Amino acid sequence: MTEKRIIITGANGNIGAALAEKFASSGNSLLLIFNNSCDRISQIEEKYPKRIFCLQANLTNYKELEKKLNTFNVNNSWLPDSLIHTATLRSIDSKPLIESDYNLWGKIIGENISSTFNILKTCLPFFRKNKSGRIVLFGSNVSRIGLKNGSAYAASKAAIANICRSVSIEEAENKILINTISPGPVKIVDAHFSEEYQEFRQKYYQEQLQQIPMKRLVNFNDIYGVCKFLISEENSYMTGEEIFLTGGKL
Ligand SMILES: NC(=O)c1ccc[n+]([C@@H]2O[C@H](COP(=O)([O-])OP(=O)(O)OC[C@H]3O[C@@H](n4cnc5c(N)ncnc54)[C@H](OP(=O)(O)O)[C@@H]3O)[C@@H](O)[C@H]2O)c1
Repeated sequence: MTEKRIIITGANGNIGAALAEKFASSGNSLLLIFNNSCDRISQIEEKYPKRIFCLQANLTNYKELEKKLNTFNVNNSWLPDSLIHTATLRSIDSKPLIESDYNLWGKIIGENISSTFNILKTCLPFFRKNKSGRIVLFGSNVSRIGLKNGSAYAASKAAIANICRSVSIEEAENKILINTISPGPVKIVDAHFSEEYQEFRQKYYQEQLQQIPMKRLVNFNDIYGVCKFLISEENSYMTGEEIFLTGGKL
């Protein structure tokens, strides 16, 4: 694989950090955007200091994000050719809609959609300048099957897949291809979540596992393989798609 310049959001998260490690070790240059902590990715930056950069930015703040990315771009003459947007806010309260707090419910949908809007609006000019670009957004299988006690998160994931469809049409003539990867439950470290949320996830994992024809959860390698193809030159035609990684489960 020829060296690519990839922006990864949510880079200190479970999937983001795993992708960062894999794309870094295969020779690419990465701009890793994190929000609160960078404990997982700072080691990657230390290992490959000339081509891996960590940048703090809250994706919900458009002005700040645009300023930080443009400054980084100018100071380092670093023009990205790909964007992998994994950042997300989860359904932290795990309640049925009828018991959900309106403000929290709206916050999950609002932040997930506005972060997606902000990162796309900031990065699309770079890709237009390059006359080429590859974008991968992250949805979830819950965008098509729903999520008990997680309606806001599920709605936000469906919205992201739909933003992808619209942007694919708008940007096709600029040779910018955008797709959404929508995995089923991924085996992740969840010790930092609240006890209530950990219980919710464990229960959900077990229920889902019984229904997955491949009899296992999706892993980081599965996600990396699809991501690698989507941002590669081999992908010259697939755009606007939502790719479900669910081991055969609808
Ligand atoms: N894990 C799964 O089972 C699964 C299944 C299907 C789909 N997905 C999707 O896959 C993607 C990655 O999932 P994951 O498990 O890796 O999630 P994760 O571990 O919770 O990581 C999400 C990351 O997003 C960052 N983030 C949240 N709000 C942000 C903001 N306003 N600005 C910048 N960064 C922000 C978080 O940083 P802070 O914590 O510092 O805020 C965190 O590092 C998500 O889009 C998720 O919906 C995951």
